[in-house]
Amino acid sequence: METRTEALSVFLFKRTSSQLAALESIVQAWHLGPEQFWEYDSVLSALSRPGCLLIYSADSADSKEWAGAALVDVGPFSADLLYVYVRPEARTKKIGRVLMEKVFQELAAKKEIEALFLEVRISNTAAQKLYKTLDLELIGTRKRYYANGEDALIFKASFGSPPNHESEPSRG
Ligand SMILES: CC(C)(COP(=O)(O)OP(=O)(O)OC[C@H]1O[C@@H](n2cnc3c(N)ncnc32)[C@H](O)[C@@H]1OP(=O)(O)O)[C@@H](O)C(=O)NCCC(=O)NCCS
Repeated sequence: METRTEALSVFLFKRTSSQLAALESIVQAWHLGPEQFWEYDSVLSALSRPGCLLIYSADSADSKEWAGAALVDVGPFSADLLYVYVRPEARTKKIGRVLMEKVFQELAAKKEIEALFLEVRISNTAAQKLYKTLDLELIGTRKRYYANGEDALIFKASFGSPPNHESEPSRG
């Protein structure tokens, strides 16, 4: 089926009954795809953590077909991108970019969040291109991070301004 990217929007997953029903079939289909997206139980487990965000691209909030999704773990002061995924036939149509922009928008609205971190395989040039076009900062490498021994690159997006320590009482 041809994806009509011009009609797609991004939505925040809110665990409605129709969204939960769609999630199960979509994630199971993606898991069988070339990149072996997470198993459904792993997505549910991530979603059970407080603050975890799931953002998806579809033609309506209740759609049973998503073009892509981003899953983000949100801690007290920083967030970690767990995965961003676009269905193979929908790639290079800016869906990944729009999903990430929605992630940034959601995190920027949370005043306490200072940064988003993510790891990417050194061989994954498509994802690295996406992160660079979004002005993420390459901050380091994790050697042999993946099970096959491949290194990871670490990217960071910063939000808000750093804490103002000048207003703290001086010591000594
Ligand atoms: C990485 C991924 C999410 C990108 O999604 P996408 O919708 O195809 O990306 P976009 O169309 O928004 O492209 C964003 C930028 O990246 C570039 N890009 C995307 N795929 C590319 C590719 N295969 N080769 C070169 N550049 C690519 C685009 O040209 C675009 O740059 P531009 O704005 O300068 O034109 C998608 O390829 C994917 O799902 N891959 C499998 C899962 C994965 O690897 N996720 C990342 C795990 S860390």
